[in-house]
Amino acid sequence: MEDCIEVILQDRTSKFLSRYQDNRTISLLTGAIFAGFYGLWGMFCMPGFLKVPIRLKVPYLPSSVEQTKNVMKLLDGRKGRLADLGSGDGRLVFAAFSRGFHCTGFEINPILLAYSRSRAWWEGIHYTDVSFVNQDFWKTDLSKYKNVTVFLAPPVMELLEEKLLKELQGDTRVVVCQFPFPNWPHTCSMGSGLEQVWAYDVHAISQSDAISPCTSAV
Ligand SMILES: C[S@@+](CC[C@H](N)C(=O)[O-])C[C@H]1O[C@@H](n2cnc3c(N)ncnc32)[C@H](O)[C@@H]1O
Repeated sequence: MEDCIEVILQDRTSKFLSRYQDNRTISLLTGAIFAGFYGLWGMFCMPGFLKVPIRLKVPYLPSSVEQTKNVMKLLDGRKGRLADLGSGDGRLVFAAFSRGFHCTGFEINPILLAYSRSRAWWEGIHYTDVSFVNQDFWKTDLSKYKNVTVFLAPPVMELLEEKLLKELQGDTRVVVCQFPFPNWPHTCSMGSGLEQVWAYDVHAISQSDAISPCTSAV
């Protein structure tokens, strides 16, 4: 009988150990996968981050196809120079270029910069039409741009209002993805939920409350 119990106990212990081993393997695997993703995320989102103060940091998140379409609709009929503040992989810039804008993408992440520059080179686009600059847009005078596209994050939007109001000329339109300006009245908007984008005409901002019908020609 005692033998029998010992056998049962041994059996249970070995089962427990093997399950524990399995769990350890699963935990190790999960840890490794998580570390891998974190490493990849870090590689794409962190380079360039040290260049800006902590409260102005905005990670990379590409705009969706729908957002890009909506931004382009709100720029319909306009022309001239366009700046994308934080151009990421350049998708908004390329879409705007295909509609006739002369574009500058400001980006501090060297990997995304290298990607968008190579795409411009690959597509044979001249640097006078599209350029991607390794520059912090907070430290750049944006007064020469008549069109500005923005996909950043809520904590920086109020500060950006101040900067843009100081620098942009009256006939400039700013189109913003996903996170609207907290104080500016928008001229019009397109899409809903996460795909929503807003257009702001600088000349209308001083005349508060007035939300005029959506007109985009300069
Ligand atoms: C949310 S992503 C938007 C990317 C792109 N505009 C799009 O719509 O797909 C914001 C981008 O801004 C860049 N960025 C953040 N702060 C910046 C700064 N001060 N100067 C230049 N680029 C910046 C980030 O590296 C990131 O690629």
